[in-house]
Amino acid sequence: MSDIVSPSSTEAAVGQSRWPLLFSPAEVRGRRIPNRIVSTPHATGWGAGGVVSRAEVDYHVRKAAGGVGLVMTFGSASVDPDSAASYGSVSLWDPQNDAALRALADGVHAHGAVCMSQMTHMGRRGSSLLSGVPLRGVSDLPEGVHREVPVVLSAEELATLVERFAESASRLHRLGWDGVEVTSFGGHLIEQFFDPAINTRDDEYGGSLENRVRFAREVLAAVRAATSEDFIIGFRVTADQQLRDGMTQQDLRDVVAALTADGVVDLLSVSAGTGATERSTSFFVPGDEVPENAYTELAAGMRKVTGIPVITAGRILDAETAEHALRDQGVDFVAMTRALIADPDLPRKLLTGGRPRPCISLNEGCIGRLYSGMPMECSINPAIRNPELGDSAEVGTTADGGVGEHVVVVGGGVAGAEAARRAARRGHRVTLLEEQPRLGGRARTAGLRRGRQRWGLYLDWLEAELRDLGVDIRLGVPATADIVTALAPDSVVLATGSRPRRTSWHDNDVAVADADEVIVAPPVPHGAGAVTIVDPEGGFTAPTAAEALVGAGWTVRIISDLPYVAAKVDPTQVWFVRRRLKKAGVELQGEVELIRDPEGWGLLDLESDDRRAIAAPDLIVVAGARTARDDLYRTLVEALPRTPVHRVGDALAPRTLRDAVAEGAAAGS
Ligand SMILES: Cc1cc2nc3c(=O)[nH]c(=O)nc-3n(C[C@H](O)[C@H](O)[C@H](O)COP(=O)(O)O)c2cc1C
Ligand code: SF4
Repeated sequence: MSDIVSPSSTEAAVGQSRWPLLFSPAEVRGRRIPNRIVSTPHATGWGAGGVVSRAEVDYHVRKAAGGVGLVMTFGSASVDPDSAASYGSVSLWDPQNDAALRALADGVHAHGAVCMSQMTHMGRRGSSLLSGVPLRGVSDLPEGVHREVPVVLSAEELATLVERFAESASRLHRLGWDGVEVTSFGGHLIEQFFDPAINTRDDEYGGSLENRVRFAREVLAAVRAATSEDFIIGFRVTADQQLRDGMTQQDLRDVVAALTADGVVDLLSVSAGTGATERSTSFFVPGDEVPENAYTELAAGMRKVTGIPVITAGRILDAETAEHALRDQGVDFVAMTRALIADPDLPRKLLTGGRPRPCISLNEGCIGRLYSGMPMECSINPAIRNPELGDSAEVGTTADGGVGEHVVVVGGGVAGAEAARRAARRGHRVTLLEEQPRLGGRARTAGLRRGRQRWGLYLDWLEAELRDLGVDIRLGVPATADIVTALAPDSVVLATGSRPRRTSWHDNDVAVADADEVIVAPPVPHGAGAVTIVDPEGGFTAPTAAEALVGAGWTVRIISDLPYVAAKVDPTQVWFVRRRLKKAGVELQGEVELIRDPEGWGLLDLESDDRRAIAAPDLIVVAGARTARDDLYRTLVEALPRTPVHRVGDALAPRTLRDAVAEGAAAGS
């Protein structure tokens, strides 16, 4: 934990006077929470078999060290061996986690923060494919994402589950935790009880409102009985399921009012969406399609009906918005969960006038990976997964404590800028050559997509960091081997990005353009122009180009040989991407190939091999077919035989933002 900065009291006053409520302490059940910033529970997928990994412990302690007031841990941590630890989450029932749980609580407390663990039974949500243990639900109706039919829980099994919640809470209490959060959020078992469309039971747990909240109340009461009067009991709930035919906001308020009437719940955590369909899941961890601070009005509504302190969660990304939520919107705490993934030092930096790395809300690196079965990372903060890439508090120390070298970075996209930033922080002298008049590279183009204003903030952040660190930035300089050699570098980082790949369409008589080009400057059609976008990538590029072209007056069709258009966009964003395209009138065709044969133009169905004739397009746009731009690499290796030359990001192989940033950071370290 070398990279922790402790603010002096004078420095801390900077943030405290600007955002007095955000940095004011609060007391819950007699426990002092030093400020209102919360890292809400989230699964990382870093463990296996429900075991808490060392990385997970360090991760949460790191948040406390960064100044978070309330550290809430372990999304979807299971209280029951029969509710499988989905998404690599943690088994709270398992005694082999005791040492790690104790270490986590001690570590968080050492930094003055408070820690609570989420606890749950996921019910019908998830899948038994990995665990081999059938799902268990309130009824036998499957949810709409995994679509697996659960076994119906009997009343006796429910009684056992109540005990399991109590046992896990008791374990956490014994191991020094400050509290727990019982969750219904995300369509877990408790939420399944609430909804009469899912809860079709005819016993004392189904039917009336009182019956539908009975299980939650039994759990909460048992948790209190198994712990102590000064143990914080939280409850997490959606205030708007975002289902087309789900419970209404009023239904949910009624549920929460009924289940908190006993006075057991001390803290409510409110967000929106639910894990019942692809659509409702898209709102659960809202990406850049959902407005910032989207759910605070809803959270305040829950506070009104219950009188219980409330945490709001949903795209609060900066201190101004957080302060506004606390001051004007009537909530007590603010989740800044992804803002803290992008920069765990955010609270301390705010306090001391520092510059937090801004989360861009793309979701691809964190929840997008998790939902695709991979461990959580962050697209722009590789240190989350690989702490060795974290920023040392000490700027200007080389790894061996020696004199810095001269590092020349060619290319000022995110890979090059991150390499330059890291190298400069390590105490090296850095020259950055960029042929364009601005830094940012292809990320600037990606940031032109509607809703991606935060990409600009991130690129501005990178540039400000480079300027503060004294990097010699030379813009408008197309690097050649001679220019680089003349700088006498000790090492070179080549981050020259990628270029469009030449395709067979370029040899046709129809105009062909690259998707990036049309995003930046969409051509204007002569009359009613029809464009076909060929998309072998399945990401955001084709949809973004399509919208730019619709805006310029084209009739647009996207075709892809993937099963559907945008098939590689992460599960929290794809619904929005396709919805936007449909609303813009773009024709979407998956599993087809554009062909031109003696019969003319056609679309070939890749499943049936059937051919459908189409009119000749006026323009073909190719999306995402790119190749590394690394010509300089070969020349430099020959010109500077004793100088290490590292290729990073797209210059190595065109891939994601996450790859570019992580490789840049590693090369600069
Ligand atoms: C990677 C990831 C995993 C998450 N897993 C859970 C979870 O298991 N349980 C839960 O209640 N919320 C989970 N969340 C939702 C967060 O707690 C939070 O509500 C959400 O990120 C919105 O807050 P933010 O805009 O401040 O990030 C997860 C979020 C992320 C980014
Ligand atoms: S991966 Fe993207 S959305 Fe997630 S925390 Fe990092 S910047 Fe934010």
